[in-house]
Amino acid sequence: MSKKYRTHLCEDIDHSDIGKQVSVSGWVHRRRDHGGVIFIDLRDVSGILQLVFDPENKELFTTAEKIRSEFVLSVTGIIRERPEGTANDQMKTGAVELLVESGEVLNSSKTPPFHHDEATNEDIRLKYRYLDLRREEMSKNIKIRHEITRSLRDYLNKSAYFEIETPILTKATPEGARDYLVPSRTQQGNFFALPQSPQLFKQLLMMSGFDRYYQIARCFRDEDLRADRQPEFTQLDVEMSFVDQDDVKSEMESMVRELFKSVLDVDLENQFSQITHAEAMDRFGSDSPHLGIEMELTEVSDLMKDVEFKVFAGPANDDDSRVACLVLKDSSDLSRKQIDDYTDFVSNYGAKGLAYIRVNEIEKGIDGLQSPILKFLNDSVINQLIEKLSLGNGDTVFFGADKKEIVNASLGALRVKMAEDFGLIRDGWFPLWITDFPMFHWDEKEKRWSSEHHPFTSPVNLDPEELKNNPKDALSKGYDMVLNGHEIGGGSIRIHSEEMQQAVFSILGINEEEADEKFGFFLEALKYGCPPHGGIAFGIDRIVMLMTGSSSIRDVIAFPKTQTASCLLTDAPSLAGKAQLNELGISVKKKS
Ligand code: AMO
Ligand code: AMP
Repeated sequence: MSKKYRTHLCEDIDHSDIGKQVSVSGWVHRRRDHGGVIFIDLRDVSGILQLVFDPENKELFTTAEKIRSEFVLSVTGIIRERPEGTANDQMKTGAVELLVESGEVLNSSKTPPFHHDEATNEDIRLKYRYLDLRREEMSKNIKIRHEITRSLRDYLNKSAYFEIETPILTKATPEGARDYLVPSRTQQGNFFALPQSPQLFKQLLMMSGFDRYYQIARCFRDEDLRADRQPEFTQLDVEMSFVDQDDVKSEMESMVRELFKSVLDVDLENQFSQITHAEAMDRFGSDSPHLGIEMELTEVSDLMKDVEFKVFAGPANDDDSRVACLVLKDSSDLSRKQIDDYTDFVSNYGAKGLAYIRVNEIEKGIDGLQSPILKFLNDSVINQLIEKLSLGNGDTVFFGADKKEIVNASLGALRVKMAEDFGLIRDGWFPLWITDFPMFHWDEKEKRWSSEHHPFTSPVNLDPEELKNNPKDALSKGYDMVLNGHEIGGGSIRIHSEEMQQAVFSILGINEEEADEKFGFFLEALKYGCPPHGGIAFGIDRIVMLMTGSSSIRDVIAFPKTQTASCLLTDAPSLAGKAQLNELGISVKKKS
């Protein structure tokens, strides 16, 4: 440590330093004038120490009077115990203070646009991000992020993985979002794409014989942003050779277990829960369910096949549809307005309504229920419902009846929303593997099959012909790791034969010419002895968000983008100059 500026960090000072002369440097966190004595809370990277300026030291005191928030100081003095009754047990250094003997103002500061403990609009925080990062909460997040990547690196380094970098200026990668393009000056009219993930490169590294690879990789996806999505985000990208699904899953479980132990001192369960994609959709209406919420969807299609109520009977008799319900227990105080709000909420997911039944007095049987749909259901159906759902007084049953996608999306989201509103989410960590994803889903807009993971994911036990004959029912060797309702990682065992790779491209409607143009180098590589391999990528930002208890991914990224994918600090993206555009052979159309 440079003795010129400091002998100690603020929070390293404790009782054992009483009577010693020390020097500290940092920012003025808070300044208080108490009847002639000036107190300054000095902040450095470690935390806060109270400085005392005594009026008897006149010259120094005059300087202290001019000091304001966020000035940078370097001071020397004696550590003493705080007078009786003035100790602050909320502060790590709350029992001591530094009586300043000499000091220097190293730099002044304009009055900051917001103070540490003030709630401020996020745009202002992002514009002055360097000040925002001085706040304890933000600084803590970034430091924990460092602990997290350090723990992940430690684990992989000791487990014989090679850390290898892959290009940022590259060709389109296959994750299904829009690409960010970078124009080439040397080959005008041509563009690089920024990687949506290092997917093809990590597979090539397996073909090159590195056996185990990892990288903390930046990925770029031009997609609609949400609270847990950024256009530029960080993955822990991992790939291994000669492995099956269980090898990857058990290795990655150990890594995540060690991560939680080393950073949060939390023991995650010995074996993570695991359910198939189909079961996740049936029970939770989501492929990233929060297992800390007990409420589940109950299938009631079988009861509704012959009811008079067409809204239910239609979906109950259609293979692509379902009738399912959620029971909110002990909700007798639920108001009509709340039910209307939930009806509006599910309409955002395409639901056409939200039928409900309230249980007022179960002792009275059907007469003890209240619902706009009772008149459409016969007594036998209602009694079966009461039994199947084990209904009790105060319960409210909500129904979804529609195409499976709509019922799953709407009731899946309602499950989480009601759990949040009624405080029904258990504390703790609920890691979960989702397996047996479908290989493909039908894209109704584009009228074609689309990969559920990405096109390099291997199918389960099928040869290329079988796959082409029945893409609808094919399952993949893909897996996701979910934590508390967020998908934190996803990966798969890969296709390692060229024939299977071609079959998948043909199902996706990518003809030979297009496959060659986009992935020719990769298809060629598959011809030179590709080992069986598989891997996974974790969303580091999401993991940090969960582990720090943050509600937004932006709070764990030092310099994030806004919801509209811009940087308020640097004002990027911005216009390019004419000369620069000319060099690139680009002309910009006027906004219409
Ligand atoms: P996938 O697309 O599932 O897989 O991404 C892996 C993980 O990255 C995180 N993630 C994101 N985080 C923040 N902002 C985003 N826009 C964003 N998009 C994804 C998620 C996700 O689980 N190449 C494959 C991995 C593989 O097959 O090995 C891939 O990228 O936590
Ligand atoms: P209606 O007869 O259209 O007034 O509907 C009666 C009840 O069924 C209302 O409470 C609607 O909110 C509800 N409802 C309508 N369509 C659906 C649907 N697809 N799924 C669940 N409930 C619905």
